[in-house]
Amino acid sequence: MQKNAKKLSDTAAAGAMWLAMLCCAAVPATAEPAPDTDGEWWKSAVLYEIYPRSFQDSDGDGVGDLNGINARLGYLEDLGIDAIWIAPMFPSPGVDFGYDISDYVGVDPRYGTLADMDRLIGAARQHHIRILLDMVLNHTSDQHPWFTAAAAARDSEKHDWYVWNDGIPGGGPQAHEGRLPPNNWVSLFGGSAWEWVPAVHQYYYHMFYRQQPDLNWRNPAVEKAMFASMRFWLDRGIAGFRLDAIPNLFEDPKLRNARELGGVNAQGDPNLDGSLTSNLPEVHGVIRRLRRMLGSYPDSRLLIGETYLPRTRDLDAWYGGARHDELQLAMDMLVGFHGDRDRLDAASFRQHIEEAQSQLHGSQPLFVFDNHDNVRAIDRYGDGVHDAQINRLLGSLLLTSRATPLLYYGEELGMRTITPVRREDVKDPIGITGWPRQKGRDGERTPMQWSPGAQAGFSTGSAAWLPVAQNHVTVNVATELEDPQSTLQWYRQLLRLRRDTPALTQGRMTMLNRDNPHVLTYVRSGTRVQAVMVALNFTAEPQILSIARGAAGPGRGSLRTLLTDAPALRGSRIAHSVTLPPFATWIAAID
Ligand code: GLC
Repeated sequence: MQKNAKKLSDTAAAGAMWLAMLCCAAVPATAEPAPDTDGEWWKSAVLYEIYPRSFQDSDGDGVGDLNGINARLGYLEDLGIDAIWIAPMFPSPGVDFGYDISDYVGVDPRYGTLADMDRLIGAARQHHIRILLDMVLNHTSDQHPWFTAAAAARDSEKHDWYVWNDGIPGGGPQAHEGRLPPNNWVSLFGGSAWEWVPAVHQYYYHMFYRQQPDLNWRNPAVEKAMFASMRFWLDRGIAGFRLDAIPNLFEDPKLRNARELGGVNAQGDPNLDGSLTSNLPEVHGVIRRLRRMLGSYPDSRLLIGETYLPRTRDLDAWYGGARHDELQLAMDMLVGFHGDRDRLDAASFRQHIEEAQSQLHGSQPLFVFDNHDNVRAIDRYGDGVHDAQINRLLGSLLLTSRATPLLYYGEELGMRTITPVRREDVKDPIGITGWPRQKGRDGERTPMQWSPGAQAGFSTGSAAWLPVAQNHVTVNVATELEDPQSTLQWYRQLLRLRRDTPALTQGRMTMLNRDNPHVLTYVRSGTRVQAVMVALNFTAEPQILSIARGAAGPGRGSLRTLLTDAPALRGSRIAHSVTLPPFATWIAAID
């Protein structure tokens, strides 16, 4: 036992409780996962986000593309990925790197052609990988023909497809033709959310960049056109969509001023209450109709929502509550992103995970720890000393919890966030306007690190669109595949274990030792599957986990290590107690 080891549960009473919980814990009905059927493939799937600019360049122009993704399907299959979500690859001026779409039924020439996409869908099928596309329903590009028509004349048939207003009388630098924006709403990307168009003498609303005008979802023609675009892709064989910024589809029809919350955000704008621009009830009708539309296709097509919501229970409505007739998966950004307070706190993770089990009417949670909009988890949760172990610990949690896991490219390698150090190097516009407080999202979008050579194997060109991280010499697929101790090998083992262990995909999840602030311990169990226990040390100190007397030795209740990064626990059948090294994972079968 190490000197500063903290005891997890060393009393007989605690041990007895541990055993009791192990054998016969009462689990609320809502924690029981719905029965797993073939049609609900997303419940046992592992999803992987690809930022297409950054994954693999096949033609040497420094920008990733569809043929590049195609060339790496073998890697993804071997890793154990079931479905890839490709961030927008549609034609786009690229102000928001694809999230400003100018044609919903095409492929941006920088990424390839429609024929490349068809080939990718076919090849992915051969590799048993489904493809999910990123559908941006809230807004288009200002270069989309719908908007150029809408902005050219008030009597254009497309005018009412966007959110327009005449403004209110007023003067000053913000005024146009003696009119001011109709309210105080600000764009998430900085400045007023209203942009004046002289040709129509009106303002239009944009939640994001001014080049991303919001569509008017109160006009049924918008829904019809968007659903038709989605059918275009469903007909080509894609497995579903990630719905971008979906809570923002509708705005307050009266355009009332938002309540000021005090203080300013990273863009220097006042913090506003978002309830007039986000989460309006009308959006649920759209999602229900969309779900019905997807239901008319074979092979269980999937809807995932980008649902940044303040509380776990708010996610429930996005699944359709007890009706389960909206999204099949709503991104839970609460377990993996704790806002300003991102820190490894077992109690807080436990609480959020339990909420996701009990507050969603049994719907399947979707956990996301990393994506293209946020500093990578390794940097948010890393303590600067044990970053690699912390990254693995988060991977252990993500891949052994009951939620569907979503990985972000490079997470499995331990790729870092490479934040630009000079404003002139920034590519993401919010990093330019927000500098130095907001440095943009380039850091988490750097090229995938495939090998130690030039451009990390990402491109044969002389430069990549964002600089390749210097640590690619050691943090890369090829090198890590050779090293049995690497982060990639750890993820591969976790993914294999998940695939081969029914309890990890089908079992309910029961927390043990719920008062322990240092170790997150849970059991995955169900009828007719072997139960598995997972113990995760969330601290930089060794922690002792005591095993109840009855659990020791051969026979019912003893623990057999399945996977661990603690050498002392490998291959062992655990008798009385184990010491978990700092940030260690121990996964054991309960025999
Ligand atoms: C989503 C995307 C983000 C994009 C925004 C506007 O949040 O993830 O990258 O900038 O929507 O489309």
